[in-house]
Amino acid sequence: MKKICVIGTGYVGIITAACFADLGNRVVALDIDEEKIEGLKNGKMPIYEPGLKELVDRNVNAERLSFTTSYAEALENTEFAFIAVGTPEGVDGEADLKYVAAAASSIAQNIQNELIIINKSTVPVGTGDWVAKIVNEHKSDGVPFSVVSCPEFLREGAAISDFMNPHRVVLGSMDEEAADKVAQLHLPLRAPIVVTDLRTAEMIKYASNAFLATKISFINEIANICEDLGADVTEVAAGMGYDQRIGPHFLSAGIGYGGSCFPKDVKALAHMAEEKGRHPQMLHAVIDINTDRRQMAVQRVKEMLGKELLTGTTIGLLGLSFKPNTDDMREAPSLDIAKSLEAAGAQVRAYDPIAMEEAAPLLPKVEMFPNPYKMAVGCDLLMVNTEWNEFQQLDLEKIHDTMKQPFLFDGRNIYDPDKMAQLGFKYRGVGRGYDGRVADK
Ligand code: UDX
Repeated sequence: MKKICVIGTGYVGIITAACFADLGNRVVALDIDEEKIEGLKNGKMPIYEPGLKELVDRNVNAERLSFTTSYAEALENTEFAFIAVGTPEGVDGEADLKYVAAAASSIAQNIQNELIIINKSTVPVGTGDWVAKIVNEHKSDGVPFSVVSCPEFLREGAAISDFMNPHRVVLGSMDEEAADKVAQLHLPLRAPIVVTDLRTAEMIKYASNAFLATKISFINEIANICEDLGADVTEVAAGMGYDQRIGPHFLSAGIGYGGSCFPKDVKALAHMAEEKGRHPQMLHAVIDINTDRRQMAVQRVKEMLGKELLTGTTIGLLGLSFKPNTDDMREAPSLDIAKSLEAAGAQVRAYDPIAMEEAAPLLPKVEMFPNPYKMAVGCDLLMVNTEWNEFQQLDLEKIHDTMKQPFLFDGRNIYDPDKMAQLGFKYRGVGRGYDGRVADK
């Protein structure tokens, strides 16, 4: 059993803390936000993540997991300190490192014994060295420490299983012995462990996220071309995905990527390149294509309804979160889409299984409904923003019958166009050029 401290109880922090505790370690999770820590002590999770509450409760009861706001308490006899604080987007797209700096100096001021500081937050290349410098400046003499980078690759909504079954663990350090000790901590996960230097590990995280974002923008560009040429992007993607060099994942065309990682990380990587005098053309194209998706969606709604001004129309949004199984609204395409529809004169309504509470203050004019059926009554058009499982099994016949006009814009391609046409919908998906056959454009 190792003693671990995790600093930050946001997404990455709480998952890391709960999972390491579940692997049999003694974990103290620290946050400077007293309300969050008080909540956690009372069983209230800071985020919505399937399975998290059960995992936290189990490990708290087994006395492997506890919470504190005190660095002195968290670092007592601790061998490993994970930094998992937020790195929000600053001006010009670069990451804002104020929380990382604060964590590093607090660690330094409370360091009591030899410590390995492991950075999990996504930070610009070179931050590990900078953290080491801050700790050196603030700590009392003679206490040895090392810095290791261990970027996280968790997906919201699947974070626990991603942590427990990683495709790989990346460790970067200039101190081989420290990297080896951190590797030992990860051995129960039975994943390939890539050990490299600090900066390379930090770069692996950015390059991975930028590549995944590129796949999404790529397929969205192909979707546009499919629409013009009469092909179906869902089948194009399936046909491409069998090629093992391409792979089937991250080729779902739609209204673009959102969330706390891709938008921020692609911009941050572009910013790092620009600071060195480069012109990262591909990264800019990825960002531009993604931004255009939101306008594409609004344009599509206007085309379907046959009007530029949407005054007098009511549009119902199915799903608000940036993806299913989360209440996270950060960079959710639905935010821009709802606001643009409102700006064009439409009355916008919404239903989301989990995210309405988060979304309501961000979309004050959007009327939230307790279920899709109530929302659909009197709507001119429904739009799928998020591919929640429960939308697959909706009674669409019932929904169709209560709408004012039966327009259905499927921004995530979750429905079968022919079936929707049979139900009487005027349906359009994304990148499905042949929709023209079934849609009354
Ligand atoms: C992502 C990375 O997957 C993860 O490794 C990293 O640690 C954090 O960023 P996350 O933001 O939770 O995770 O979501 P993810 O499932 O990757 O989806 C990101 C966005 O891309 C969502 O808005 C999703 O709708 C969109 N997406 C994803 C597509 O539009 N098409 C796809 O084919 C896949």
